[in-house]
Amino acid sequence: MVIQTFRTVQDMRTQVTAWKATGLRVGLVPTMGNLHAGHIALVKAALAQTDRVITTIFINPTQFGANEDLDSYPHTEAADSEQVADAGGHAMFIPSSAEMYPAGFSTRVIVDGLTDCLCGAARPGHMDGVSQVVTKLLNQAHADVAFFGEKDWQQLTVIKRLARDLDIETEICGVPTVRDAYGLALSSRNGYLNAEEVDIARKLNVILKKAAYDIAAGGFAIDECMKAAKALMKAGFSGVDYVECRDADTLELLDRSEGRSCRIFAAVHVGPARLIDNHLVN
Ligand code: PAF
Repeated sequence: MVIQTFRTVQDMRTQVTAWKATGLRVGLVPTMGNLHAGHIALVKAALAQTDRVITTIFINPTQFGANEDLDSYPHTEAADSEQVADAGGHAMFIPSSAEMYPAGFSTRVIVDGLTDCLCGAARPGHMDGVSQVVTKLLNQAHADVAFFGEKDWQQLTVIKRLARDLDIETEICGVPTVRDAYGLALSSRNGYLNAEEVDIARKLNVILKKAAYDIAAGGFAIDECMKAAKALMKAGFSGVDYVECRDADTLELLDRSEGRSCRIFAAVHVGPARLIDNHLVN
């Protein structure tokens, strides 16, 4: 199926304005392409809440560090567009780098406080790059609602904060993580793993769930649970960037969970991939 594709901000805006003029609500699903069922869940959530859905594909260079996978990140535009069309999406926005960052581009978006921990600390500059490109996409599309996965909980929290702080009218909606039959959170980076590495990767959610259960059960201090989780991770994964229990809204590091909505966050390395996940402590 062929889907309408915009390459320029102006073309996308013209269509959004026309849709809105007839009373239609517009949903935005920002992605970096290489789509999987997790992204399609975002498209479906958008279709359930809005009348017209635009999926964006832009592999944003400013959110990749020097030794990360920008150069090898898969470009799968045709297959991605087909998946979105099959799911019922209405349009794609696939801008060039020059459209997003014209010569002389010099504006940064820094969300203080929420970006100096977790992936913000482990991948310096990453969260600033995400904040920059998402601010641009939200301003470009003027959608009614934009949809982001809860797997990247810190990213979702940062985006909610910047939208609030900068008076961006688009509502930010989180969509639950999609997992495989063994609980592994779907990620474009899972595609880098061989079968043996997938088996290791599947242990991540099991370890997080156990830690969340132990904290919720109340018998264990948070730092003991985190130490135990880290020890289990170190036995399987080639590296652990962090495993931490934090307030779900402020991302403040917690040593006691009482009365707080908290989540356990982890980033680990397996084979060539760096994987993240998070789990609610009930
Ligand atoms: O989550 C992603 O795929 C990216 O970080 C996003 C939100 C599309 C910004 O480039």
